[in-house]
Amino acid sequence: MCAKLNLQATTFCQADEALALAAYAIHQEAQYAPWSEATFVDCISSPYECWVLLHDGQVVGFAILLVVLDEITLMDIAISAGLRGQGAGKHMLDFVIRRCEQLNGSNCFLEVRESNLVARKLYLNSGFELLERRKGYYPLANGREDALMMVRPISAVAP
Ligand SMILES: CC(C)(COP(=O)(O)OP(=O)(O)OC[C@H]1O[C@@H](n2cnc3c(N)ncnc32)[C@H](O)[C@@H]1OP(=O)(O)O)[C@@H](O)C(=O)NCCC(=O)NCCS
Repeated sequence: MCAKLNLQATTFCQADEALALAAYAIHQEAQYAPWSEATFVDCISSPYECWVLLHDGQVVGFAILLVVLDEITLMDIAISAGLRGQGAGKHMLDFVIRRCEQLNGSNCFLEVRESNLVARKLYLNSGFELLERRKGYYPLANGREDALMMVRPISAVAP
């Protein structure tokens, strides 16, 4: 896979099972405690949506949403490890916010590890605010760390 991304040449696509399996490889490399493959692939069906970012026909990132009425939760978002730091995470998150608008969401929620400074910066720059701190929510190799619950209000879009 190329190490340089041309964001203008990327497209978003709602994942079928094959695309979700490609996204799962990115999830596995990105997460300290990855979900099972079956749990991940289940997220292609309602009430979940799995969206992938494609570049040169390859899945280079993904986002999973949980849609419950007008409350939407970003369950996971990741970019392939070798392709981070080129704006693809922001591109994917902008898409997620547009998708929340299309779905007439009121709020987009997420949770992030306190130590995940890159993701926290991405979310803060995209209008997410701290809602709540969950003490010791995530396991670490040595102990536990807090989860930060964040929320971004979603504006209604003109029909
Ligand atoms: C979080 C993640 C999706 C961001 O994707 P990315 O493509 O690397 O991010 P971008 O290049 O769009 O950069 C987003 C912001 O983070 C900053 N950033 C990116 N890499 C950084 C780094 N190594 N150090 C510090 N800041 C960094 C950028 O400066 C940018 O901020 P800006 O808008 O002020 O310039 C990606 O790092 C990732 O997949 N991480 C592993 C999975 C994960 O942690 N997901 C979040 C779960 S809550």
